[in-house]
Amino acid sequence: MIPEDKVAEVKERAGIVEVISDYVALKKSGVNFLGLCPFHGEKTPSFTVNPAKGIFHCFGCSSGGNVITFIMKIEGVSFPEAVKLLAKRVGVIIEDRPLTLRDKKRIDEKEQQLKIVELAAKYYSHILIEDKAGEAGRSYILKRGVKNELVLPYRLGFATDSWDGLVSFLVKNSVSIEQAEKLGIVRRRSNGSGYYDLFRNRLIFTIANVHGKPIGFGGRALDDSLPKYINSPESPVYSKSDVLFGIDLAKQAMREKGYAIVVEGYFDHLALYQAGVKNVVATCGTALTNGHLQLLKRYADKLYFLFDGDSAGKKATFRGMELVLPEHLPAFVIELPEGEDPDSFMSNHSIEEFNDAVKRAKPVLDYFLHDLIANGETGTVAGKTSVVDQFLLMLKKIPDPVERDLYLKELSRLFSVDLRTLLSRMGGNSREGRSIEGSAKIKGAGAGESLLVLLGEYPELLKNAKDLNIELLLPSELVPALIDLVSMIESGKKEIDWGSVMEKIVDSPLKETLASLLLDDKKFKDVDPEKALNDYYRALERKAVKNRDAKELRQELATLDSDSSRYWEIMEILNTLRNRKSLLH
Ligand code: GTP
Ligand code: MN
Repeated sequence: MIPEDKVAEVKERAGIVEVISDYVALKKSGVNFLGLCPFHGEKTPSFTVNPAKGIFHCFGCSSGGNVITFIMKIEGVSFPEAVKLLAKRVGVIIEDRPLTLRDKKRIDEKEQQLKIVELAAKYYSHILIEDKAGEAGRSYILKRGVKNELVLPYRLGFATDSWDGLVSFLVKNSVSIEQAEKLGIVRRRSNGSGYYDLFRNRLIFTIANVHGKPIGFGGRALDDSLPKYINSPESPVYSKSDVLFGIDLAKQAMREKGYAIVVEGYFDHLALYQAGVKNVVATCGTALTNGHLQLLKRYADKLYFLFDGDSAGKKATFRGMELVLPEHLPAFVIELPEGEDPDSFMSNHSIEEFNDAVKRAKPVLDYFLHDLIANGETGTVAGKTSVVDQFLLMLKKIPDPVERDLYLKELSRLFSVDLRTLLSRMGGNSREGRSIEGSAKIKGAGAGESLLVLLGEYPELLKNAKDLNIELLLPSELVPALIDLVSMIESGKKEIDWGSVMEKIVDSPLKETLASLLLDDKKFKDVDPEKALNDYYRALERKAVKNRDAKELRQELATLDSDSSRYWEIMEILNTLRNRKSLLH
């Protein structure tokens, strides 16, 4: 751990423009500096550095941060290594120092929580492997064709029908039940007396981080009852947007093969893995995020999407496509027969047939184009125009001009449209050509992002913001950034480290708006801060989903049976709201 004040000193002395100039030719443009992004190929500069705020941001590939993040990215080093590199450069001496109480507490809690998940995993596993009460689980995995030798590596387990099996086990092992509650695996009874188990009568999949440490669980019902799966909620040790199921098991194989296969479900993962296809990860109910892609990039340089052969699977594929296109991460689609998922495919077909399907995999854009042509309305001029436009929208996301050109030629040939016409149709507001002046014009920028910048510029608003409980209305992707910002304000920092705040946002559209707001120096200069706060708050309130209101939710909950899926949905929302509150206050 490097002391905070040393990090601050390094940041202050290492001027961001000077440091980045070692790697990128920068040209002054207003209050900012512009250059060609070193993180993706481009011909017109969209890489922007703002010396006053100490941040950089690329409007082409959405990478951004402060001087330290820049070094981490470009040199491929960790945070402390980057700080040390910079320290050497600017002559700051870094000595090691003991942790602050606050750091200690956070680390202690996290360690406690990791131990608790580990303990719970052992509890579930013991029941499945050798307890009499695990019989139902054992016959279920037999029915699903799970080989015995997979039970241990997957840390499969079984949760019995009891309401307090895990609770009693944890108490017996002198575990802090409050910490277990923060993990969401046990819950406080609504009348306040004691706790109960989240998972009951379910087969348990243990979710692990890249190092193989258990951080959460997924539980499958043994029959058709709903919800089919319950997953443990987000917690300090489990962030869904950064975790992929099975990554610990797949790491080695992804490195060896150079590509990763992405599936949707736990059982899809299992089916491939036990057939010997080990370079596989599963998203498990969450949409693929940028965080997932960054994780996969560490091990693989190509992705294969293998989603269910239904419309939901197709949707997931296209969502994944939008994310990977700007990322220099070639992606392919393995197609499954209608109505099959990888699990059913593996039980109905041979491994050779699977390998053939992999060989036939199409680049995701080709798949998209064929789908547009097959299912779009291409019989009319209007229909054709719409197909061309939808495809151009995706093409714009590709940073590589050669690749884009090749697709344009293909499109021109397929639709007999002049290449130059297509080019100008696409070029109009192409991402890459967009300059900062253009993008910073903040049309209807998000109220949440604006609130963050406002709070940073006028820290005296913090009390009002807390009174308003803004964390409850803010888009959830911004909450980690808010927490970071608030802790900076509360620690009395003179300058907000916006790079660090931005790093907390994994969702790139929101991050881009925030960057545009930050790079526009005039935007928040002449406002009445309190009025602005209230205006943004109102705007958020208008947008907020009605069912975010905790009181209403509790009332609805009282009318529901705990077996209904709505019940669990509400429990999850309430838990998230509670966690957020305790984070900020
Ligand atoms: P099986 O039916 O057991 O083979 O599971 P599956 O993996 O085929 O399920 P499906 O394709 O329906 O869903 C894919 C993934 O989404 C699952 O593995 C779960 O991670 C997640 N999921 C599915 N249903 C639910 C649900 O009801 N609640 C939650 N939270 N997640 C679900
Ligand atoms: Mn399935």
